[in-house]
Amino acid sequence: MIYSKICGTGSYLPTDVMTNHDLEKLVDTSHDWIYTRTGIEQRHIAQSHESTCDLAEEASRAALNAAGIDSSDIDLIVIATTTADQVFPSTACILQERLGIKDSPAFDVQAVCAGFLYALDIADKFIRTESATKALVIGAETFSRIIDWTDRTTCVLFGDGAGAVVLEAAAVPGIHSTHLRANGAYKDLLSVPVGISRNFEQIINGSAYTQMQGGEVFKIAVKCMEQIAIEALEANDADVEQVDWFIPHQANSRIIASTARRLGVSMDKVVVTINQHGNTSAASIPLAMDTAVRDGRIKAGDNLLIEGFGGGFTWGSAYLTY
Ligand code: UT7
Repeated sequence: MIYSKICGTGSYLPTDVMTNHDLEKLVDTSHDWIYTRTGIEQRHIAQSHESTCDLAEEASRAALNAAGIDSSDIDLIVIATTTADQVFPSTACILQERLGIKDSPAFDVQAVCAGFLYALDIADKFIRTESATKALVIGAETFSRIIDWTDRTTCVLFGDGAGAVVLEAAAVPGIHSTHLRANGAYKDLLSVPVGISRNFEQIINGSAYTQMQGGEVFKIAVKCMEQIAIEALEANDADVEQVDWFIPHQANSRIIASTARRLGVSMDKVVVTINQHGNTSAASIPLAMDTAVRDGRIKAGDNLLIEGFGGGFTWGSAYLTY
């Protein structure tokens, strides 16, 4: 039996930081409101010349370095992103050329904030079926580009960044299981209702923005996050006590705390980065994972429960041994 295993992590955050106090100068908000309702203190924002692929490249090089693997050994690239550099080619193809990787499959996955789980699931299946041996799996976003900076209900929530993992074939897991869900009936609760074949004029006039019915999203997110985490534990006959680190999508500290409480996971086992990063969509889970690997919390052999939830709705989880 062949499994996939994470052998290196990396991440990158743009250098520009926007604090809640900076936002007070843009919209009618306050640090206290943002921090109390979301847990966010600051977020990183890409400069106008920085693209999603720029962030993905930095995160990928850091992950390859941590894995001690040359980019030429990579035989699959999957990027989860909502904010691709171009309509085509994919951000993954642009990255492939930059990293000097030849002929590997390379493609983007769009599942918004659950995108990294979708990308990880796909790469895991490539490796288990011997279609790849070493994969770069990335979550990268310049979400600030699809934010209306005059809308206080959304602009305080999001940030930019990228996280990457190198997955390689292994005789033991690694990734024990992945679990994906989607429900398009909720498509209007969280969306950018603009694209190439619909409302294209809003892209041309620069008003393609994220819209969210936050309260509704919040209620459904808490339920779905609990269910999909339980599904991952049950699929592996694992008890919550066996989880060393719980890494949820970083959308709101109250959603994180509520999910942890429902699952019976104590908060000192939960990786929380939302205070520093805000919601970086598909990048949030690999960014949080890399943070906890690099500060020494996550160690080889630790069991990780990771999960995400986003527009679509899409959601998913994975149970893995680091
Ligand atoms: O990553 C994908 C998944 N995303 C999520 O899971 C996000 C889920 N939703 C949330 O995190 C929360 O619903 C929000 C943080 C977006 C909003 O928090 P809330 O506690 O649900 O606030 P609310 O929308 O019910 O708004 C409460 C009040 C309203 O004023 P009134 O009507 O009570 O007078 C809002 O107008 O807060 C007001 N408000 C603000 N005030 C200051 C909304 N945004 C702001 C703001 N600053 N930025």
